[in-house]
Amino acid sequence: MSNWKHRHILDLASFSLEDYEEVLELTNRFKVLQDSGSRNLPALQGRLITTLFFEPSTRTRSSFELAAKRLSADVQSFSASISALSKGESPLDTARTYVAMGADILIVRHSSTGVPAQLAQALDLSDKKTSILNAGDGLHSHPSQALLDLYTLASFFSPQNPTCKSLKKKKIAIIGDILHSRVARSNLWSLTGCGADVVLCGPKTLLPQDFESFVNSPPTDQKTDPIQKRGHISICRSLKEALNKVDAVITLRLQKERMSENLLNNLESYHRDYGITHEKLNFCKCKVPVLHPGPVNRGVEISGKVIEDKSISLVDKQVSNSIPTRMALLYLLAATK
Ligand code: NCD
Repeated sequence: MSNWKHRHILDLASFSLEDYEEVLELTNRFKVLQDSGSRNLPALQGRLITTLFFEPSTRTRSSFELAAKRLSADVQSFSASISALSKGESPLDTARTYVAMGADILIVRHSSTGVPAQLAQALDLSDKKTSILNAGDGLHSHPSQALLDLYTLASFFSPQNPTCKSLKKKKIAIIGDILHSRVARSNLWSLTGCGADVVLCGPKTLLPQDFESFVNSPPTDQKTDPIQKRGHISICRSLKEALNKVDAVITLRLQKERMSENLLNNLESYHRDYGITHEKLNFCKCKVPVLHPGPVNRGVEISGKVIEDKSISLVDKQVSNSIPTRMALLYLLAATK
C-alpha cells in the first residue's frame, strides 16, 4: 500500500524516510523491468504529461519524456525558444494553457528560484488537480536528480536491495561549485535524510561556510523536519583530506552561467586544486565510485579519463537510472489523483 501524500514534488525538504523508501523501491521495480527488456507499461495510459522547460536541458527533459512514454502517457513538450514567451506570455499563463489542454503533470524547469512553487500554488488556488514536478529552479532545487543519485548510490552499495539503509553512515563527498548547484542542495536533503554524512569540499568563493548548517533550517512554509535523525554535513577545504574519508564522490559542473561575478582566478588552478583525476583519487582509502550530474566540463571539475573509467565512473549509470527514477516519480504523482 502506498503512503504517498505529495501532490507536487517541489523540493526534498518535506520528504520523510518513507517517501525515500517508496521512491527507491518503485525505482528498483521499474529498473528490474527495464533490464528484463520490458519496455512499455500501461500504467499512465490516457494521462497527459507536459515538459515545460524555460531553461535548456539535455538529460533531464529527454529522460522525463522517455519515462512518461514508457508508462504509456501522452507526452507534450514546450520549448521556450519557439513559444509565445517571446511575445511576452508569463510562465503562469503558459502553464494555464497546458492545464486547459488537460495536462495531469507539468514538469517545470526555470532559471528563477520558486517558479515551480508559484505555479503549484496558483493551480491549487484555482482548484486544478494538475501536479507540478520541479525539474530544476534557479539555485534552489532539483529533486529528481538527487533521487536518481540516491538510487545510483544505494544500488552501488547494495546491488541486490537498494534501500535507505544502504546509505546509512556512508560518507559522501560533494566537490566543487556547491554555491550555484541546485543538485547539491537537493543531494544534501536526500543524503542526510537517509542517514549519510556529507563532506562538502570547494573554494570559499564557491562554498560558503554556512552550508554546514544547510539542513538545520527547513523552508519557512514547513514547520518541522520530517526526518528525525539526519546525517551530518561538514566542510573540508582540502581535497586530499576530504577524499581520505569518503565512500563515494559526487563532483559538480563549474556553473559559469550562474556566476554573477568572477569567483575564480582561473580554470587551471581550479582543476589543480579541485578537479577529480586518477591521481587525486589515490587519496581515498579504497577505490570509490565517482558521480557527476552532467553536463560535464572535461578537464575542469573532472578529467575525461575518470569519466570514461567504467571501474569507477557511475555517470552512465546515473543517466540510465534516471529513466526508472523518473517513471517512479510520475507514477506516484499520477497515483495521488
Ligand atoms: C544540472 C542542472 O541543470 O541543474 N544538470 C542536470 O539536470 N543533469 C546540473 C548542471 O547544470 O550542472
